Formats: sequence, C-alpha cells, structure tokens
Amino acid sequence: MYIGAVESHSFITHLECSRCGARFEHTRVQSVCTKCGGTLFARYDLEAVKTRVGRESLKGRPPTMWRYREVLPVLHDENIVSLGEGYTPLYPLRRLGERLGVSLLVKDDGLMPTGSFKARGQTTAISKAKELSVRRVALASAGNAGGAMATYAAKAGLEAYVFMPRDAPSAAKLECHVMGAHVYLVDGLINHAAGIVQRLRERYGWFDLSTLKEPYRVEGKKTMGYEIAEQGGWRLPDVIVYPTGGGTGLVGMWKAFGELEELGWIGSERPRMVAVQSEGCAPVVEAFRKGAEAVEEFPDAHTVAGGIRVPKPYAGEQILRVLRESGGTAVSVSDTEILGCVREFAGEGLFVCPEGAATLAGLKRLLDDGWVEKSEEVLLYNTGTGLKYLDVLGEPMLPTVSRDADTLPTH
Ligand SMILES: Cc1ncc(COP(=O)(O)O)c(C=O)c1O
Ligand SMILES: [Zn+2]
Repeated sequence: MYIGAVESHSFITHLECSRCGARFEHTRVQSVCTKCGGTLFARYDLEAVKTRVGRESLKGRPPTMWRYREVLPVLHDENIVSLGEGYTPLYPLRRLGERLGVSLLVKDDGLMPTGSFKARGQTTAISKAKELSVRRVALASAGNAGGAMATYAAKAGLEAYVFMPRDAPSAAKLECHVMGAHVYLVDGLINHAAGIVQRLRERYGWFDLSTLKEPYRVEGKKTMGYEIAEQGGWRLPDVIVYPTGGGTGLVGMWKAFGELEELGWIGSERPRMVAVQSEGCAPVVEAFRKGAEAVEEFPDAHTVAGGIRVPKPYAGEQILRVLRESGGTAVSVSDTEILGCVREFAGEGLFVCPEGAATLAGLKRLLDDGWVEKSEEVLLYNTGTGLKYLDVLGEPMLPTVSRDADTLPTH
C-alpha cells in the first residue's frame, strides 16, 4: 500500500462507529462518533493483509507489538513512538496450576515499559496523535495510563496534561511529573477527573486521550490478543481472566480475535472472557448479573486495585457484549483476597500489581463455583508490576510493631 511516495505498512481504511456504523476518516483527528457518541473502531483491509502477510512471516520480526504493523493505525514508520513495548512473556504457572488443578498460564505485562500494559495503548495513541499533528494531549487516569501517556508524550515532544485521583499510587504521580507532564490531582475518582478533561479540553486546546474516547488506544491494547494467539502457537486458551476497569483490554482482545479469524490465522474458537472486579467497585459484575445492556454507576467506589476503580466505564455496553458473546462471565473479589493473591504469585517469582492479583482471586471463585473446570486451560492477564504500588501495598501488607513490643504480630 502506498500513501503518496512513501510506503506504508498500515492497512487501515477508515474508522467505524461501534454503535451506529457511521464511517469516519482516519486521516483526521477523531474522537467519538459525532452522530451517537459511540466509540470509533479502526477498520483495515484485512483481505489485502491476508494476501501480503502470512502468520509465518511474523517469525523474523522484532519482538515488540509493532510486529503487527499492518493491523495498527500508524501510516508512516517515522511517526512510531516506541520504547520496545510488547511481546511480553506468556508461560505456564506450573506450581500454582497444579495446586488449583488447572492448566494455568500467565501473560506478564509487568515487564512493559512504564511497568504496565497501558504502554500498549499509549504507544499507539501518541504515535497516531503525532502523525495527525496533535500538539497537546490530556487524559483522566487511575495512574498507569497517565504515566504511560506522559512517557510517550515526552518522547514524541507533545505537551501532556494528566488528571488523576489524589490517592493514586505515588509512583504514577511522580512518573508523570518526571516525564514533564502537567499533573493535577483530583479530589475524587477517575470519572470526576474525566469530567474535568471533558469540560476544559476545548478551552485549553487538548486532544482527549481518555479510555475509548479516542480510537487508537484500543488498537494498541488489541495486540494483547494477537500476542496470546501467536505465543500460544495460534491456539487460544479456554478462558482468559482479565482485571476490568475501563474495559479497553477486554474489548481490544475481542477485536483482535475477530481480525485474526478474518485473516485466517485462527479459526472460530474463542476463549470465554472473564471480567474480574473488586467488591468495592463492581459495576460490570452487577450489570452482567442483572442481564442489563448498560452499566450503571457504582456508588462509593473503593479498592486497593486502583486501575479497576472505574465506577462507570464509558464502554460499558461493549464490555457486556464481549462477556456475553464469548460465553464468559464477571466476578468480584474482596481486597483481602486480592492482597492474599499478590503473595501467592510470589511463589512463581512474580510481584504482580493488585489488579493482576485479582485475576487469581477471580479464578479461585470460578473454580469453587464449578464455572471453570479442572481440565481447562486458563490464562491470567497480569496487567502491571507490583513495584508501581509500593505505597498502596505496603500499608495493608506490612504489620507495624510498637517500639516496646515483646511479642510479634503474625505475618
Ligand atoms: C494495572 C491495571 N490493570 C487493569 C486496568 C484496567 O484496564 P482496562 O481499562 O483495560 O479495563 C488498569 C487501568 O488503569 C490498570 O492500570
Ligand atoms: Zn455512531
């Protein structure tokens, strides 16, 4: 495919509204559907990709998520802002699996640049923003997306504004500051932060990169699905357990599986997709249980796993659709279970983030219910490293002893 005189490796053709099907140009800055407010999805000429690239030809490519270049939206290589992200390890957790009686896999995005899977969305969104000559980007974040946006914006030379809850993990706040972003701490939750971005973006000339309000973060996140397929030898696990906040990862993986089937790289088999949330913030779980089509705001949201503290995800409808289409489910777990599972992952040499630990807690619930069967292959998606949560985890995990103590509390 040629754009002017420059060879392009992207086969993007247009953007399409996920709700009403309206089409939009990918060569201009776009946010959500101007007709109905639905999320816009990038569409590609997959027939052309199919004739040019076989899955075997991926083998010699660099081990980053940009190996799926043809199905990513950036037209010109020089616009790609990359820190070598993606193609993170996927491997069996043998001991833990044996204990639970399932064939257990982990996909570990704790090893991503900026310490979380959010780098996938931001390398794509910032690259595309750069390609479309955007100068100033802003977003509301629980922490990790802000850190990733600030980092990629710094490398791209864009000005970045981040709004995050005041009690977000210190590492994320400092990361944004060190990366030169304008960081504002909001006395509220991520939806309040998103409200600020929405109200002020025109006045300050920001392009809003908040979850699923621009079309390209989800494109980066879908590489999780491509990698799971490729690293699994083009065979997908029976169940994928994913810590769900805004839902980009879940929606992105599902999009990937659809594209992979169109490319003929996988068949029609699909994993059952599981959304794990915390009992203190479980809007998707409640909506799924009720059989609702939309997600209602969860009151007084709180959890130690800040990335999944999203009281009303913008893409609620799409998350529910993925869960239903895949034959999946939604499950909530307590913060105590999450903290316990951070320690259980340690037995595999992993210091996972609380959101990642929630997947193990969720799986245990599903095994107890018999929803997951012992013979099945289950993939737990670890979305980040525990090292970004030292202040959040340290407080509840480490017992304090009085200076005059003559007995010790149990560990
Ligand atoms: C570590 C971590 N896990 C999971 C999530 C939830 O991601 P998603 O928006 O894909 O549901 C977040 C979002 O901030 C996060 O930071
Ligand atoms: Zn629409």
